Amino acid sequence: MGTKEGCAEGDCGACTVVTGELKNGEVELKAVNACIQFVPTLNGKALFTVEDLRGGDGSLHPVQEAMRDCHGSQCGFCTPGFVMSLWALYLESTSKQSHITPGESEIRQAITGNLCRCTGYRPIIDAGKRMCALPKVAFDSNQLKGALKALESAGTSHYHHGGASFYSPRTLAELTTLRTGQPSATLLAGGTDVGLWVNKSFREIGDIIYTGEVAELKTISGDEGGLTIGAAVSLNDAYAVVKKSYPEMNEMWERFASTPIRNAGTLGGNIANGSPIGDSMPALIAVGAEVTLASVGGLRRLALEDLYIAYQKKAMQPNEVVAYIHVPAPAPEMRFRTYKLSKRFDSDISAVCAAFMISLDGDTISSCRIAFGGMAATPRRATLAEGALLGNIWDEATARRGMQALGQDYAPLSDMRASAGYRLKSAQNLLYRFFLETRPVDALRNDELNVFA
Ligand code: FAD
Ligand code: FES
Ligand code: FES
Repeated sequence: MGTKEGCAEGDCGACTVVTGELKNGEVELKAVNACIQFVPTLNGKALFTVEDLRGGDGSLHPVQEAMRDCHGSQCGFCTPGFVMSLWALYLESTSKQSHITPGESEIRQAITGNLCRCTGYRPIIDAGKRMCALPKVAFDSNQLKGALKALESAGTSHYHHGGASFYSPRTLAELTTLRTGQPSATLLAGGTDVGLWVNKSFREIGDIIYTGEVAELKTISGDEGGLTIGAAVSLNDAYAVVKKSYPEMNEMWERFASTPIRNAGTLGGNIANGSPIGDSMPALIAVGAEVTLASVGGLRRLALEDLYIAYQKKAMQPNEVVAYIHVPAPAPEMRFRTYKLSKRFDSDISAVCAAFMISLDGDTISSCRIAFGGMAATPRRATLAEGALLGNIWDEATARRGMQALGQDYAPLSDMRASAGYRLKSAQNLLYRFFLETRPVDALRNDELNVFA
């Protein structure tokens, strides 16, 4: 009864619940948006709603107590969602492994997916600070671990309802076999895109093949060549490792949707959806990422940019699935940046998303990759701008030539997020910003002298 539906599209957080599952034998608890989760994906998991926080004697949980003490609620519609987001943070902060009192930035990150129309956020952030100062309420993860272990099963699970089937394969072989037999079934990962097809477009999506239990697709591995990330790894887990190699991705990643969306959504889903305004693609294309597609016939690897042929058209056969994303290790001389422009800082879709990578040999650009989202019908490289930069000294004149070439690379559209003119101008200015942030020290000195001359 506590869980509310506000937007039904993953944006407001009124429906936030916490799910629990076993990961590497340990319990993992995470906040997700209930409104866009498909019920059969809960098979084998634990589900906590705001009702589960009350003590056996009816007492409030410290998160709830802190919300009350700090006046964090007025009409109360958003409150169960905020409480669940803060509870997930509380559990993380008070777990045996961490014992960290969350600071303001962690609290803000935890509630980026929750909107409140009447209280304002300051008292809620105060509650986030206060909750860990109150007497601790321990969470019995051993009991939950036992319960989750008892639910474990092998082999594809199958659920049939209302004339449609839901399949949850456990291995890549089971997944590709199912896919071959059912090329028109909807592949479902985190549901943060597919959920909206149902709730907002009222689409009948028919049979579903769920990738979230496929063991191979939930792995991350790495060596000196780079990282290999399974398509069903959550956005949160994927970027936690990617940003170790590319700390420049941190801001884009923190601004990617919200914590609950990044907990549910997967990197494979973002890449397979391939939206022209998706955020992972420009950065991954710029660093030279590749993707492995799987089918019963085996595995096939291609450059990520080659996956996108035209609007919503991918270089994938009907029987193929995205299996892995390969992110190469950064070259030592690489200079890389990615920028996201959107109307709101947190939890908003990009108007323009840019990524620039150059390698310098002395002052000369020896390799260059530029990719944009929001500028064309697919995430796409700016080959003319790359050509204008490659082999030239990385100075103001080269940057200006690259900016001009961007005008030939793209003919963006106007829509509710931005006009074509704004998109092109800001894309050019972002290239200039990249230049300012990465220019060689000598260019910096000469430009400064020019300014003073
Ligand atoms: P799903 O919804 O499960 O699937 C997405 C698509 O990929 C479907 O077509 C599905 O059939 C297909 N698919 C899934 N897995 C595979 C596979 N292994 N092989 C082949 N096809 C597959 N996106 C951004 O880029 N930036 C944002 O800031 C952002 N903000 C958002 C905010 C909100 C509130 C919401 C609801 C969404 C937002 N998104 C954003 C979009 C979405 O979260 C991402 O695209 C996400 O990565 C999708 O992953 P998923 O696992 O939820 O995919
Ligand atoms: Fe708004 Fe679910 S109802 S996020
Ligand atoms: Fe009313 Fe937040 S208390 S919407």
